[in-house]
Amino acid sequence: MPLNVVMLGPPGAGKGTQAERLARRHGVPRISTGDMLRDAVRAGTELGRRAEAVMTRGELVSDELIIEIVRERLDQEDARGGFVLDGFPRTVAQAEALDALTGARGPLIVVEIDVPEAELVRRLQGRRVCSRCGANAPVGGSSASCPRCGGPLVRRSDDTEDAIRERLRVYARDTKPLVDFYRARRTFVAINGAQPPDQVAREVADAVAARLAPATFDTAGKATS
Ligand code: AP5
Repeated sequence: MPLNVVMLGPPGAGKGTQAERLARRHGVPRISTGDMLRDAVRAGTELGRRAEAVMTRGELVSDELIIEIVRERLDQEDARGGFVLDGFPRTVAQAEALDALTGARGPLIVVEIDVPEAELVRRLQGRRVCSRCGANAPVGGSSASCPRCGGPLVRRSDDTEDAIRERLRVYARDTKPLVDFYRARRTFVAINGAQPPDQVAREVADAVAARLAPATFDTAGKATS
C-alpha cells in the first residue's frame, strides 16, 4: 500500500522536522508547500514574486494557486508510490481538493502534531534556517553555519513577532477546522509534539505503521471493516 501522509499542525509544531524523517524512512518525497514557495522566492520566479509579501505577513497564498502547485507535484513520477505532505492542506477547500486528487491512490494518513502555543512561539523565535538551502538548524545547535551546505544561518522572514502572531491566528481560523474534517477517519492520529524530536518521530512511525496495517478502507480513509 502506498504511504500517503499529511502532516497537520500549527507553525513550529515540527511538521517539517518529522515529515523529513518519515519520508526518508519510507523512501518517498516530502512535499512542503512552504519550501516550494520559498524556493520560488529565492529563484525570483513569478510565483515567488506573488507569494513573497503574503508569506512575510504570515497570511496564506490563495487556495487556487497552491492547489495547482500541489496537483502538478503529485503528478510527478516520484510521488506515485507515496508522499509526505507538509503544510498542505491548510483550508477545507484544499483538503477537499486533496481528496479529489488522491482518492484513487489509497487512504490518506493524517498526523496532527499538537504543541502548546507558548512552546510554538519559543521555537519560532529561536529558529535559524540556512539562507542558502533553507534547511532548519538542528534543535539545540550552536553553530553559525548550515550543517548541510555550510551556508549562513539566519532568521526566517516570517519568524518575526508580528508574523508569528498572524500565522497562529490564521492557523486557528483556517487550518484547525481540518482536525474536525479528518477526525472521523480511522487514518487520523494526534501526536504530542511537545517531546524531544526522536520521541515524536518514534510515535509518528508507530502510528503510521499501525494505520498501514491491513484493514479495509474506502478511498477517504474510513474503515469499512
Ligand atoms: P510553512 O513553511 O508550511 O510554515 P509553517 O506551517 O508556519 O510551519 P513551520 O515551517 O514554521 O513549522 P513546522 O511545523 O514545519 O516546524 P519545524 O519542523 O520547522 O509555510 C510558510 C508560509 O507559506 C505560510 O505562512 C503561507 O504563507 C505559505 N503557505 C505554505 N503552504 C501553504 C498552503 N497550503 N496554503 C496557503 N499558503 C501556504 O520546526 C520549527 C522549529 O522547532 C525548528 O527550529 C525545529 O528545529 C524545532 N523543533 C522541531 N521539533 C522540535 C521538538 N520536538 N522539540 C524542540 N524543537 C523542535
